[in-house]
Amino acid sequence: MKNFCVIGNPIDHSLSPKIHNHWFNENKIDAVYKKNLLQTSELEKFVEKLRSLEITGANVTVPFKNSIVPFLDKLSVEAQKTNSVNTIFNEGDKVIGHNTDIAGFELAIRYINYEIKRKKIFIIGAGGVCSSIICALENMGCENIFLTNRTLEKSQKIKKIFKKIEIVKWGKIPDFDIVINATSVGLDNDTIDLDLNFPHQNKFFYDVIYNPSETHFLKQARENGNKTENGKMMFIYQAHQSFAIWNKVFPKIDDKTINLIK
Ligand code: ATR
Repeated sequence: MKNFCVIGNPIDHSLSPKIHNHWFNENKIDAVYKKNLLQTSELEKFVEKLRSLEITGANVTVPFKNSIVPFLDKLSVEAQKTNSVNTIFNEGDKVIGHNTDIAGFELAIRYINYEIKRKKIFIIGAGGVCSSIICALENMGCENIFLTNRTLEKSQKIKKIFKKIEIVKWGKIPDFDIVINATSVGLDNDTIDLDLNFPHQNKFFYDVIYNPSETHFLKQARENGNKTENGKMMFIYQAHQSFAIWNKVFPKIDDKTINLIK
């Protein structure tokens, strides 16, 4: 039997085992997928398990998408561009880091038929998933991207890769069409310390978080009359691409799959 897992900290919220075990069953693949709570100091040892094939494939979630990079042998073009890895696989004795978040975000936006062209985007959070979202938005032709992060240096690091974005000081809210929560705030039902509470209407609030399905960020936005979307479809599409990398099979995304993620 093959072993797969997702690593992160915290990890309780992750629904990756649910979706991948469902697809393993459907495709009659003899494999099991588990959650693995790790500390940063354990990342190197973890990659060794992929090298020795004790683990066949893994997903990486908060807060390790950037910090896993130095321990890998090679990166895909997308992972290299974003310095962010959410999928690991041992191919021909090299442990390779892939990024399926870019495709995941782009497909999720296409799924709801939302037009990104000429839109002003405000991203909150310069953590592990931020560069993937910027990459997808630029691919889709957005007008401009404002980025804010509690720790300024992290947004400055992202600007070194994506030169066209504008950095906004924490606490300032620029004019936007879409605001994206790319922080980990909301996983524990906590609230982002930003004054988004003024009566924005007819804007689009997107949260990368899918569990809980409605964070405070989305609840408040919905109550104020805005369009909202959580990270569920992004999660499903990134998982779909990871599954294909590991198993060379594209599993089905149908109502049964979507209903697994509540
Ligand atoms: P990493 O920061 O190691 O890349 P991550 O989980 O991918 O890990 O990113 C967490 C993101 O959530 C970061 O943007 C972080 O902001 P800081 O860079 O200032 O730490 C953001 N974040 C976490 N807790 C936060 C909070 N209470 N308020 C605002 N932003 C927060």
